[in-house]
Amino acid sequence: MIGTRARIGRNAAGRSAPGRGSGVAQRCVSNEAARQCVIVGCLRTCQLPRETVCPGVQRRPEVRYQGGIVDITELILDDHHEQRRLFAILEQIDRAETGVLSAIWDRLAAFLELHAQAEEEIFYPALLQVGIAARRAGGVEDETLDAIHDHNEIRDAIAEVARHQTGTDEWYAAVAAANSANSDHMAEEEREGLTDFRRLAGLPRRHQLAVAFAAYEARNYAGVRSVDKDPVSYVRAAEKKLRTAASGSLSVGTLKRN
Ligand SMILES: [Fe+2]
Ligand SMILES: [Fe+2]
Repeated sequence: MIGTRARIGRNAAGRSAPGRGSGVAQRCVSNEAARQCVIVGCLRTCQLPRETVCPGVQRRPEVRYQGGIVDITELILDDHHEQRRLFAILEQIDRAETGVLSAIWDRLAAFLELHAQAEEEIFYPALLQVGIAARRAGGVEDETLDAIHDHNEIRDAIAEVARHQTGTDEWYAAVAAANSANSDHMAEEEREGLTDFRRLAGLPRRHQLAVAFAAYEARNYAGVRSVDKDPVSYVRAAEKKLRTAASGSLSVGTLKRN
């Protein structure tokens, strides 16, 4: 799926599409609404007149995407599909096969925790960044607060499964609760965060983040430490990092939850 859906940066002849990848003498293609640079990923609103050459792009080394472009929103959707698939498999296994149930659940639980952590490390800070640049701080802050809250619920539901013997009614009930929490969260994330990010971030940025996301999951394949996070503290810390990186002040909206 990644191979077909994500190969969207090249034309049939295999050449890079205009405006991405050549790294030389590219014209400003700032986001229409926010004038946020979608090539360099500038946090500040782009002040360049349209159709001028972006100096940030001129300074960058030539970038070639050897295998096409991958998109972080597609990688997250692929992870969601795999999570749904593993929950469905659990429901098809005879409850007497506790060894198989445990093996699949352990894999799924580690994957759920890693996926949430990868989103918190890479995707949600980027969503806050592009939302703030587009003067939609309030919207992306709410989406991020909801996501961290949901991730905590999923982590807690996973921990609850571990308190029960595999294959018992209580174990199945705990797995079902984890499935429900994760399903609700994925639906909201796909409807809001991922959709907004596609609107606000250009393909070069989404490709850059996809590579980082894939690398994070690969490096932490064996699992991550499951730790709940305070949603407000998470957003404040992420925005503080963004302000430091941008070395300027941003207009940050008011957090609604305290
Ligand atoms: Fe998530
Ligand atoms: Fe997700």
